[in-house]
Amino acid sequence: MTSFHPLTVSQVENLTTQSVAISFEIPAHLQSDFTFQAGQYITIKHKIHGKEVRRAYSISSAPAVSGPQASITVGIKEVAGGAFSPYANRYIQKGDVLEIMPPQGRFLYAPTSAPVHILGVAAGSGITPILSIAKSVLASGSKHTFTLIYGNKSPQDVMFSSEVETLKAAYPNQLKIQWVYSQAKEENSLFGRIDTAAINYLLKNIDTDPFDAAYLCGPEGMIKTATESLEKAGLATDQIHYELFTVATESTTEAGEATESALTAGNIAVEVTVDGETSTIEMDAKTILLDAIIKADIDAPYSCQGGVCSSCICKVTKGSASMIKNQILTDSEIADGLVLSCQAMVTSTEIAVDFDDV
Ligand SMILES: Cc1cc2nc3c(=O)[nH]c(=O)nc-3n(C[C@H](O)[C@H](O)[C@H](O)COP(=O)(O)OP(=O)(O)OC[C@H]3O[C@@H](n4cnc5c(N)ncnc54)[C@H](O)[C@@H]3O)c2cc1C
Ligand code: FES
Repeated sequence: MTSFHPLTVSQVENLTTQSVAISFEIPAHLQSDFTFQAGQYITIKHKIHGKEVRRAYSISSAPAVSGPQASITVGIKEVAGGAFSPYANRYIQKGDVLEIMPPQGRFLYAPTSAPVHILGVAAGSGITPILSIAKSVLASGSKHTFTLIYGNKSPQDVMFSSEVETLKAAYPNQLKIQWVYSQAKEENSLFGRIDTAAINYLLKNIDTDPFDAAYLCGPEGMIKTATESLEKAGLATDQIHYELFTVATESTTEAGEATESALTAGNIAVEVTVDGETSTIEMDAKTILLDAIIKADIDAPYSCQGGVCSSCICKVTKGSASMIKNQILTDSEIADGLVLSCQAMVTSTEIAVDFDDV
């Protein structure tokens, strides 16, 4: 479950001046590990200046419909000052070998044979999982339809623009696209951000047919606004799916405050089960559970360490923990004992957690 596999970079393509598409070859013996569903992400593990970094990247390529999955592609946008994305944009080359964890994630589109009408809402690098979902929907049948609203600063900043255009040419009657630019006025495009007005414009002018589901990926503010607009337009909460790449700064501040209130004092005995092996460690009550597990060199799964990717979920089988923040687990999953270990503060003097039983 937690293992990384060395995969060879088979192609590197500059998408914009600040983003790159990187494809990895999937060897025959790893086919079953790297089978994925549209919407999922991989975790890349790499050492930069001697320090290990792990980062999640959504898959932009489509799952193989039949036959082997020859490759998997991700799109990486450079974040100024970031540890990995500038490195990926500047230095990764065809032939490099990187450590990759098999696809994970709960932002999923499951193809159906019955026709569906799906909305994709993407901003910036948020296009990556939406593109995979769009390809998967459109390839499922000639009555399957997809409408994309895609926001960027300007046409020069659009990741995967030629792939989106190629898709439009291949499925002229099944795919509708509404471009939105915040810093460029272009014909047939909306000026501004993807906000309530943009979503309402789309629903009233571009596509008036009811959607079966909506998939959203972009900044937290956009997801919140788009969700509210779609709910007002009649979509049920369970028809709206979203993926966050990072959380807004305000949430981090709130989280800091929550950490303080969740503390207990003293040392805690922790039993950790990963891949069938149980280890016992001791941790300080002020430490986040995942941090203590990593420090003890236990190979638990994790990626973002920010409470957004879901790869660090474990089950509390004894004792208790509370989460600093949670935008992933449902109330019933929490009632079942699941926690995001990267957000978990232990609230009992003993705790047992299981990463396998999730
Ligand atoms: C499930 C999931 C899927 C993801 N998929 C993609 C993807 O398809 N393409 C992609 O480019 N990225 C994606 N990301 C984001 C990616 O994992 C990294 O967080 C991002 O590349 C920055 O990493 P870094 O090491 O360069 O920056 P870091 O060293 O981690 O961060 C540097 C600074 O930038 C801030 N920051 C981090 N990410 C962002 C961001 N996206 N926008 C603005 N500020 C940020 C951090 O808070 C920090 O202050 C995904 C994240 C998750 C959780
Ligand atoms: S490591 Fe991403 S949610 Fe915990």
